Amino acid sequence: GGDLRVEKYLQPFQLSPETLQEVSARLRKDLLRGLGKHSHHKAPVKMLPTFVRATPDGTEKGDFLALDLGGTNFRVLHVRVEEEAQKVLKMDSQICAIPQEMMLGTGEQLFDHIATCLGDFLESHNLKGQTLPLGFTFSFPCEQLEIDKSILIRWTKGFNCSGVEGKDVVQLLKEAIHRRGDYHIGSVAMVNDTVGTMMSCGYKDQSCEIGMIIGTGTNACYMEEIKNVKRIEGEDGRMCINTEWGGFGDDGCLDDILTEFDVEVDKTSINPGVHIFEKMISGMYLGEIVRLVLVKMTKDKLLFKGQISEALGTCGLFETKFISEIEEPDSGLENAKKILTELGLDWSLVDASVVRLVCDTISSRSAYLCAAALATLVNRIRNNRKLGHLKTTVGVDGTVYRKHPTSKLQKAVRLLAPQCDITFLVSEDGSGKGAAMVTAVAQRLAHQSRLLEESDGEDNEEEEEEEGQ
Ligand code: GLC
Repeated sequence: GGDLRVEKYLQPFQLSPETLQEVSARLRKDLLRGLGKHSHHKAPVKMLPTFVRATPDGTEKGDFLALDLGGTNFRVLHVRVEEEAQKVLKMDSQICAIPQEMMLGTGEQLFDHIATCLGDFLESHNLKGQTLPLGFTFSFPCEQLEIDKSILIRWTKGFNCSGVEGKDVVQLLKEAIHRRGDYHIGSVAMVNDTVGTMMSCGYKDQSCEIGMIIGTGTNACYMEEIKNVKRIEGEDGRMCINTEWGGFGDDGCLDDILTEFDVEVDKTSINPGVHIFEKMISGMYLGEIVRLVLVKMTKDKLLFKGQISEALGTCGLFETKFISEIEEPDSGLENAKKILTELGLDWSLVDASVVRLVCDTISSRSAYLCAAALATLVNRIRNNRKLGHLKTTVGVDGTVYRKHPTSKLQKAVRLLAPQCDITFLVSEDGSGKGAAMVTAVAQRLAHQSRLLEESDGEDNEEEEEEEGQ
């Protein structure tokens, strides 16, 4: 009896291969909507141009600063790109906490704080005299107009600073630095964390053309043919597109697979109706989904003798990191017992194993949904290039990817994209180093086109001379 009732709760989270295929097909349509000239402004999956037109070719080099904002912490880095060693080295880095009040305060406060952290970093590392180029990883949906002009569309993942949406984030950063007036920065390149991840892996493995994050939020970017990006002029070459797949489902197209718990998590979030796909997958929400399931099961007298503790009854107190601890193959059951005790619950052995099952079910769903989305991207790249078989590399980062078993995700992608052979490369410090890499590639391209122009110029002179003769 008990087992069947447990099953009843978990069954809506268990997505069949057919359902995943269907999810992947829906995303395929949404990618097209996002890329279309007239459909993009209403598209839930935004498909944002990044102005990153090339992945590294291995000749980049130099010293850079990088800022990384968008997860739980803000980081400043000094990065060196070494051509000889084909390595991106993190020279130094510093973490600055962003207090909760600041995440919900004014934009000016936030950017002043960022400028202060950067100033302190430059000061303590004796870099204040130099004017280094800066890569700014800003992991929120932005309408990018240039590599150094990027308008925040909206906040996600718990941030909600006033006066930033609709504004150029690079400008806000420069203004904050200007207000201090004690240091300068060189050219700025703005990147999403997915792009940073792709680019930092791309130095090591030049077939890396996808970047994926499964952390506080979830998202991916990939190299798309420019001719398919209808908002951008040009027919030749590729551009990296930030899909913002977290917004998949915001038009209701995933309603049939949402559980009552997903609906509840969305309703109580600070941005209801927004980033529905992300809320089923990423670290900011997984723990809360598990908590809601456990609460309901307890109310139904399936767990903890029907007694909900104060902690279990409190929003946000079942942390996502508990899930990976409870899922651990060897120590999982012991961890579960410890966590349940800490949450003030009167548990039995059966309770502990049911909790494990719940955690496993919800983290597996997260992995499978990501797999479905990733399959859509690799299948698209394969079709774009009219290849029978695609071999590609995905740069990945994020705590949810790192801390959970990845075999499920990988197996599911193989099933959903059988003609693609995918290598997963976990990026170390990707969003920081990658921002530097983007800056480095932009400099290389600018340098190359200057050389081209110069040689064009020479040709012209010759022609003129010839005409004159
Ligand atoms: C959210 C942001 C997106 C970012 C992702 C992962 O979905 O909107 O820009 O890439 O989180 O951090």
